[in-house]
Amino acid sequence: MPSMHPEESGSTTGWGAPAPSDQNSLTAGPNGPIFLHDGHFVDQMAHFNRQNVPERLPHAKGSSAFGRLTITEDVSAFTRAAVFQKNTTTKALVRFSTVAGELGSPDTWRDIRGFSMKFYTSEGNLDIVGNHTPIFFVRDPMKFPHFIRSQKRQPDTGLRDATMQWDFCSLSPETSHQVAYIMGPRGLPRTWRHMNGYGSNTFMWVNAGGERFWIKYHFHTQQGMEYLSNSEAEALSGTDSDFHRRDLFEAIRAGDAPRWSFSVQVMPDEEAASYRFNPFDLTKTWSHRDYPLIPVGELILDTNPENHFAQIEQAAFSPANLVPGVGLSPDKMLLGRVFAYGDAQRYRIGPNFMQLPVNRPVAPVQTYQFDGPMTYDHTRDLPRYAPNSFDRPWSDKGADLEESWATDTEIVRAAYELHSEDDDFGQAGTLVRDIFTAEEREDLVYTVAGALGRIRHDGVLGRAVEYWRKIDPATGDRVAQIVKPSDEDRPAAAE
Ligand code: HEM
Repeated sequence: MPSMHPEESGSTTGWGAPAPSDQNSLTAGPNGPIFLHDGHFVDQMAHFNRQNVPERLPHAKGSSAFGRLTITEDVSAFTRAAVFQKNTTTKALVRFSTVAGELGSPDTWRDIRGFSMKFYTSEGNLDIVGNHTPIFFVRDPMKFPHFIRSQKRQPDTGLRDATMQWDFCSLSPETSHQVAYIMGPRGLPRTWRHMNGYGSNTFMWVNAGGERFWIKYHFHTQQGMEYLSNSEAEALSGTDSDFHRRDLFEAIRAGDAPRWSFSVQVMPDEEAASYRFNPFDLTKTWSHRDYPLIPVGELILDTNPENHFAQIEQAAFSPANLVPGVGLSPDKMLLGRVFAYGDAQRYRIGPNFMQLPVNRPVAPVQTYQFDGPMTYDHTRDLPRYAPNSFDRPWSDKGADLEESWATDTEIVRAAYELHSEDDDFGQAGTLVRDIFTAEEREDLVYTVAGALGRIRHDGVLGRAVEYWRKIDPATGDRVAQIVKPSDEDRPAAAE
């Protein structure tokens, strides 16, 4: 960029010639009208109309920082991925977000927080696109768009709507664990620095000997978990809707770089079939008593973005971005997500989004993808097809699918097979009774009653109260005393 004083250097047009004026358009005399042949003016106006890309449909509001992942422990028994070998340090980008709100929405609405990580590894980009909770609302990706629409806005009023939200959740009992989680204190993290991150889905690790393990990723905040009260969060929504974004940027600018301890739960492949919960059901956690945390390393965020649009809006995270030694699992949600993200990003940013600096791997790229809007990289005159006779390499690993699993069964549309302790409300009840403190349970009653109090449909209100009674009878009874559903409110569907 020119460093001279603007009056000496001036600006240029997009095509690099000196710009005639950034102050006055070309007019017939001082009082106009304006000429269409003012190319600089036309270009300004037209580019301005195109300076947004569509916001992410879920997780629109967020922000990021760069940093690094350092592996301090030897986990080579579980994975051969270069990024996870002891003493390896890898550049990272982490984006935090809310799920339901739009781009300008307050950071402090009660919601899940996104915790997306991109690691620029020597073997290609590895993305862990997680949340600040280890579970999710639904277990089949077919239900994801329905769930998100129930959290967004009504078609007629354009308003968010408690009736719609509790209608969906009370008709989808598998949501109970995640709902109990975010109606408790963790639904209002004080800052992004004071919350944990989880990969949430079950992933696969494969070691150098080809052995497979099922993995849950955990990133525990070293700043300590801290929460906002309902009233603090509501006040901040009004006075500083960018509170979390500002907090992260200012902490890093002041040299107070946040850190997370990275650990994994590891389940040997052969234990999955008989585990008491289905280990691929995203509405369930794995007990830490059964699968204790194994320390792996540390994540630190110490570098702010230089440009919000180029490095955050255009950042594209995807569970499809995997590296050797890391794989997917039979978790249906994860498999559905593999399609969804790249598809959204081709629409949102454009088909060549992986060529943008923030998404570009540090590992060399040698792909058979060509051309398209805004192509930047090209391969000169190299063959565009494989196989070819001109020494351009191609891949064909045949049956050597290490990051995979066996399946030999009928094709069906069906819920997961239940494991011995699987049900919809069990882990949600354990969370409320055994993990929440007495004070947190007390707050929960009033948070839930406040939310249910906005339901404008008797049948939905009655069903939502029953839903809470199934999570925890004591909590449900106390909520019922406050919101007072009438007996007629009990919907036929809940009987
Ligand atoms: C089948 C279920 C799901 C589908 C179809 C889905 C789809 C999407 C889509 C289309 C986006 C926008 C991507 C973009 O425009 O760049 C997105 C963003 C996101 N999703 Fe999901 N999602 C699902 C479940 C989940 C789950 C289970 C988690 C966490 C464990 C999650 C975490 C995120 C995060 C953190 C973002 C924001 C990414 C960013 O920071 O750019 N999603 N999701």
